[in-house]
Amino acid sequence: MQIVDIHYLEGFLTPNNINCVVSQLPKFDIHKKGDIMNTSVNIGGITFNNPVTTASGTFGSGIEYSDYVDLSKLGAVTTKGVASFPWGGNPTPRVIETPSGMLNAIGLQNPGVDVFIARDIPFLRKFDTKIIVNVVGKTIEDYCEVVDKLAECDVDMLEINISCPNVKEGGIAFGQDAKQVHYITSEIKKRAKQPIIMKLSPNVTDVTEMARAAEAGGADGISLINTLTGMKIDIHKRTYALGNKTGGLSGPAIRPIAVRMVDLVASVVKLPIIGMGGIASAEDALEFIMAGATMVAVGTANFNNPSATMDVVEGIKEYMSNYGISDIKELIGCVR
Ligand SMILES: Cc1cc2nc3c(=O)[nH]c(=O)nc-3n(C[C@H](O)[C@H](O)[C@H](O)COP(=O)(O)O)c2cc1C
Repeated sequence: MQIVDIHYLEGFLTPNNINCVVSQLPKFDIHKKGDIMNTSVNIGGITFNNPVTTASGTFGSGIEYSDYVDLSKLGAVTTKGVASFPWGGNPTPRVIETPSGMLNAIGLQNPGVDVFIARDIPFLRKFDTKIIVNVVGKTIEDYCEVVDKLAECDVDMLEINISCPNVKEGGIAFGQDAKQVHYITSEIKKRAKQPIIMKLSPNVTDVTEMARAAEAGGADGISLINTLTGMKIDIHKRTYALGNKTGGLSGPAIRPIAVRMVDLVASVVKLPIIGMGGIASAEDALEFIMAGATMVAVGTANFNNPSATMDVVEGIKEYMSNYGISDIKELIGCVR
């Protein structure tokens, strides 16, 4: 059986050159289509209809994509980062295309938790999907304020973005210091009414140390990876291409790094993992699942294919049908 695997080697956002690689799949028994399949997964006691969610910051709060995507077909919508007060974000330019990906320095612009609660939760609740709220802050108190307000709300899970700089500790990101990872996890766990997922930064020497710290602090799960810090210079203007000088690299360029980090983290903690980083197809998502991710998130791919999430959901089912997999759990960590 042959499949055509399309790799965008350059110009991911506006692909001109598409390099088609025809690869030979190993031979498996092909079960008849239409078999009953279980795609549901469980994290922290919450059952998701399927393992596919959105990567925070690439899907707004769901409203923005609802004309293109049936949100009820997603396992969950993970919202953009929500802070305790409105954040204006960074100076422009904030986004720049790079080979097989993009650099962004949005600066976590968001209208704050009160607007989120009044506007976005009621909208998302109209759909048969779970709501994962991404929480951001500049101090631990900021994070806790959001977590406290969300405790009374009808949301299913919190994803804590610890790639933000801790302004009280000289600006080093919470997620770059294992002691801080442990502390912020335990402080949030004490007050959260929903399960908490700690979202790890890849910009560390040893991601397993951070994963262990999150587990010891009481996390219910781990998500990874956030963006990798990068830079682009505009040689014509002889200046930094981004207003913020540095930005976060995302898209297919980071996928192999992300898959390896998921595999590493899955080997040291017992917590369920939400894997992300350059997922643009079901084949990409399955790599993360086989490396040990219970769920996967589609991010940058939403920008050049607004229905990328649907392709991933359908493609995973097709794979399961083709290979006679009756339960997605058979695939989680199967290479390990
Ligand atoms: C424009 C943009 C905004 C993002 N905003 C957030 C955010 O608010 N909170 C967060 O935890 N991660 C944020 N991320 C990181 C993504 O959720 C994801 O971890 C990362 O982009 C890797 O996945 P991808 O390559 O599929 O995009 C953002 C990424 C992009 C590209």
